[in-house]
Amino acid sequence: SAAEKGGYDYFMLKEIAEQPKAVADTLLGRIDASGSLRLDEIRIPVSVLREVDKVVIVACGTAFHAGMIAKYAIEHWTRIPCETELASEFRYRDPIMDSRTLVIAISQSGETMDTLMALRHAREQGAKVLAICNTNGSTIPRESDAVLYTHAGPEVAVASTKAFLTQLVACYLVALYLGQVRGTKWGDEIQAVIRELSEIGTQVDEVLETMEPVRELARTLATKNTVLFLGRHVGYPVALEGALKLKELAYMHAEGFAAGELKHGPIALIEDDLPVVVVVPSPRGRSVLHDKIVSNIQEIRARGARTIVIAERGDEAVAPYADHLIEIPPTPTLLQPLVATVPLQVFACELATARGNEVDQPRNLAKSVTVE
Ligand code: AGP
Repeated sequence: SAAEKGGYDYFMLKEIAEQPKAVADTLLGRIDASGSLRLDEIRIPVSVLREVDKVVIVACGTAFHAGMIAKYAIEHWTRIPCETELASEFRYRDPIMDSRTLVIAISQSGETMDTLMALRHAREQGAKVLAICNTNGSTIPRESDAVLYTHAGPEVAVASTKAFLTQLVACYLVALYLGQVRGTKWGDEIQAVIRELSEIGTQVDEVLETMEPVRELARTLATKNTVLFLGRHVGYPVALEGALKLKELAYMHAEGFAAGELKHGPIALIEDDLPVVVVVPSPRGRSVLHDKIVSNIQEIRARGARTIVIAERGDEAVAPYADHLIEIPPTPTLLQPLVATVPLQVFACELATARGNEVDQPRNLAKSVTVE
């Protein structure tokens, strides 16, 4: 009913709007007065976490994209090798694990069969399994050694939005916590990032307040057949997520690429007026990546692409090459997906609406996939 949707036309719109609160709720009670993480709820002893020599993340769909981003954070802050794998592929290749392997299973519903089978396989091999889950008492956390719940609240729309942002927050918390208990040379950075993470809800809110031009743009693209998405570093999984949202909601051909791969094939797809969304890393810090992506944008634009650029506010180097510029607030590099994904959710939702699709219940899809 309209009341259940809190006055919004669709659950998806309501859930997009709830993201600042969902993010804040997922942080609540997990940062102490001294600015350190309190995650005793992860019932894996600190002595065991200190011995972990490999992290493997398993998940499907949008949760898999959160896991891809988590890999960057975990390897950076902990220096523990981390791999992220599609849950449906994982056990079929006889992966190498032992008691020093930490497997992280990410799932909104906690009932995804592919993810459940992957974690069962991991436990059989003696690995410790930590679930990141949004649904209390569901099967995946029940069968794991430990759980860190995301506090997004119930997600009704099939397309995952607020669950994704809170999965990211939970992944950052786990990465920072592993760094904290193991002690790394990034100690100061970890403290600073914990502080910045606690501000991030406000920045998500800022993005939400500036989405009207994104909706307008989406409506003008309703008759297009294809949209491409490019990103690099943590912007690459964001590009994949933008493409997935567009497929499932707008039923359009959408593909995400790592921007560095363009010249290895995908650039042949560029033709006149093809919409290409590009997620641009911050010009501060990792400026090498920033400059490379700016030249990618120039290359595709020279070949006729219509560039839709998501970039940090004040990024003057990229602005001249953006046919449409979507500005996001500055964040630390690794946290950028929390703000960069939001315009892509709004974009897909508006395109789906413009194409007359059922936003909350896309064709052929179920909210939780309980078959392998
Ligand atoms: C996201 O928009 C999708 N509907 C889908 O990819 C989903 O993320 C995937 O099926 C995993 O679900 P889970 O998080 O409940 O395990």
